[in-house]
Amino acid sequence: MGESIGKVGIIGLGFVGLPLALAFVRKGFEMIGIDLDQNKIAKLDQGQSYVRDIDDSEIAQAQASGRFAVSSRYEDIKAADSIIICVPTPLTPYHTPDLSYLIDTCNRLSPHLQQGQLIVLESSTFPGTTKEVVQPILERGKLRVGKDIYLAYSPERIDPGNSLAIEQIPKLASGVTEACLDKVYDLYSQVFDSVVKVSSTEAAETAKLLENTFRLVNISFINEFAHICDTMKIDVWEVIDAAGTKPYGFTVFYPGPGAGGHCIPVDPLYMQWKARQFGVQSQFIEL
Ligand SMILES: NC(=O)c1ccc[n+]([C@@H]2O[C@H](COP(=O)([O-])OP(=O)(O)OC[C@H]3O[C@@H](n4cnc5c(N)ncnc54)[C@H](O)[C@@H]3O)[C@@H](O)[C@H]2O)c1
Repeated sequence: MGESIGKVGIIGLGFVGLPLALAFVRKGFEMIGIDLDQNKIAKLDQGQSYVRDIDDSEIAQAQASGRFAVSSRYEDIKAADSIIICVPTPLTPYHTPDLSYLIDTCNRLSPHLQQGQLIVLESSTFPGTTKEVVQPILERGKLRVGKDIYLAYSPERIDPGNSLAIEQIPKLASGVTEACLDKVYDLYSQVFDSVVKVSSTEAAETAKLLENTFRLVNISFINEFAHICDTMKIDVWEVIDAAGTKPYGFTVFYPGPGAGGHCIPVDPLYMQWKARQFGVQSQFIEL
């Protein structure tokens, strides 16, 4: 077994959690992955990947290091110094945030928390989730955030299908307290090339929603623009390439079959839901 530089627990081994788990192993950490999906655990145990961008050989390599273990038992997380949550945050049938996976995770995790552990939320969500939803559940026992345990938010920015390695994408880091921020910054600086401190968890949560809302609005717009050009018999691709030569004030977006990925059309509705609680509305998201 290669020498471990720390123990990290990752809850939710999907499109986000599995690449993150492998990145931690590559950097020398011992990784304990938790997922309730027995099929995924069985596949990983057999050295098989179920994420398109990850080859079976990467799983085999991680296993060979002796620092990659997976299970469905939350008690295994007790041994971790840091715990990273990467569970789904979809919409309900009413197009409102569905935090059931996150709340279930926190409920299961809470009884196993140990003094000194850092908990990082990576799931995309509305501003306030870390403090208003996660923190109260984690503090059900005697442990207090900022004193006994540390709570942070760092949104995942993985770009499935593209070649940029996860470590190369700058990582936002925020904490409920200064001590929480320092802990997550120190941990992520050992894995990511660039870690950017953000002053509050709310700002980091909102930054992720801005990124995805920006993409949704611009993809939707360029699709409409393509339709207009098509009707006018103007080649929209040539138009975009021509406009793209402008060195400032323009970002290239290309027409496609829709505002793709499963986060792009979902995340803006998290922002809209929270904004409504403050009596404001986004006409762009609504559109
Ligand atoms: N997929 C992307 O490209 C992407 C990019 C950036 C951010 N995100 C965000 O990251 C989060 C995770 O997305 P994903 O694409 O990895 O989802 P996913 O569905 O691929 O993976 C989530 C995993 O969590 C597991 N899970 C669910 N509830 C659990 C529980 N209580 N305990 C343990 N495991 C549990 C599921 O079995 C699944 O394997 C979401 O908030 C998403 O919006 C996704």
